[in-house]
Amino acid sequence: MSDFFPGLAGVPAARSKISYINGQQGILEYRGIPIEQLAKHSTFSETAYLLLYDRLPNQKELDLFETNLRHHRYLRHQLIDLIKCLPNDGHPMDALQAAVAALGMFYPAPPAQSEEENYWAAVRLIAKIPTIIAAFARLRRGNDPIQPQDDLTHTENFLYMCSGKRQNTETSRALDTCLILHAEHTMNASTFSGLVTASTLSDPYTVISSAIGTLKGKLHGGANEQVIGMLHAIETASDVTTYISEKLEAKERVMGFGHRIYKVKDPRATFLQNIAQDLYKRSPESHLYEIAIEVERVMDEMVGHKAISANVDFYSGLIYHQMGIDPELYTPVFAIARVSGWLAHCFEQYKDNRLFRPTQIYEGQRNRPYVKIRDRTTRAS
Ligand code: CMC
Repeated sequence: MSDFFPGLAGVPAARSKISYINGQQGILEYRGIPIEQLAKHSTFSETAYLLLYDRLPNQKELDLFETNLRHHRYLRHQLIDLIKCLPNDGHPMDALQAAVAALGMFYPAPPAQSEEENYWAAVRLIAKIPTIIAAFARLRRGNDPIQPQDDLTHTENFLYMCSGKRQNTETSRALDTCLILHAEHTMNASTFSGLVTASTLSDPYTVISSAIGTLKGKLHGGANEQVIGMLHAIETASDVTTYISEKLEAKERVMGFGHRIYKVKDPRATFLQNIAQDLYKRSPESHLYEIAIEVERVMDEMVGHKAISANVDFYSGLIYHQMGIDPELYTPVFAIARVSGWLAHCFEQYKDNRLFRPTQIYEGQRNRPYVKIRDRTTRAS
């Protein structure tokens, strides 16, 4: 019998030059550059360029890329109409997936995509995803969408389109850093699902809509939304031990902890924790940060021996909460960043493509006779 690896754990699905993880040492690099350096010095749009084109852009290249992103932030009115028709109580990730799939219908690409077409698909997807998310967020609350502003950066513009207010530099920079930290992460579930779609030579819009559907789940990007619910439910730091032990005794997962690859604290969580600490210093809700620190301490005490530590989703929700972002938008914000990594993998797959067509281990019955309906008992034989 062939070897079987549930969840394909440890099975390489591609050769890639996009990002590198060392799960034992807590290292993450994009195109060879440590994530900490990018988070400190880069911007999201520059990091997206790096992921897509394997090098940091010079000033002229960056200016052109950012100009193109600015021009493509706008949505066609038919797409806004489509978003208006979606149910207000639907999850924004579902709205995003539907709108991105529909986006491809406005920009149909031939089956064998050229580099030029891939460039424009990347620009449109990176530029329009924040506009789609902000438009649905407003429409579902009965407000009109806010038009993008050309004088704002990618991140400033997203925050503006959500609230109609220009945020201060500290808030915008903090969110931009979050986007850098979420932009790419090797062969995770959503990237893999995008790759499977790309391997059929489907277009980038369909690839990204597959990946969005996969990111939504609470074991993947959806965990950040769950974390803030947990921190609110705990109420005070002194309740943490009881809350966590009850969860673990009930064999429930504590969201924002554990990772298939990292066996130490996720380096992104370390960086995000520092951002959260700064943001909560002067906040009237500083107790939420204190509860989070206590959850991490208690988890380390109770399940640290299983190499379970905080992952990227643990502190990101806390940061978005402080920025006034609605919890249902936390995973869409993840998608605003991750679209750049998904696209980089999609284009890498197109360049050296082989259709994904794994096998399975069949465990069902064989050669069963067909029984006519009148001869069947209540349970099918
Ligand atoms: N809380 C409590 N126990 C856990 C957790 C957790 N969050 N994660 C893993 N474990 C335990 C699990 O119960 C098992 O224990 P035992 O061996 O005693 O049965 C052991 O650790 C190994 O678990 P596993 O399910 O085999 O590990 P995995 O590599 O398949 O799971 C994971 C990885 C991310 C699905 C899992 O850690 C989890 O469910 N975490 C909570 C959801 C979460 O935070 N997801 C975000 C992941 S990082 C960012 C992203 O991908 O979006």
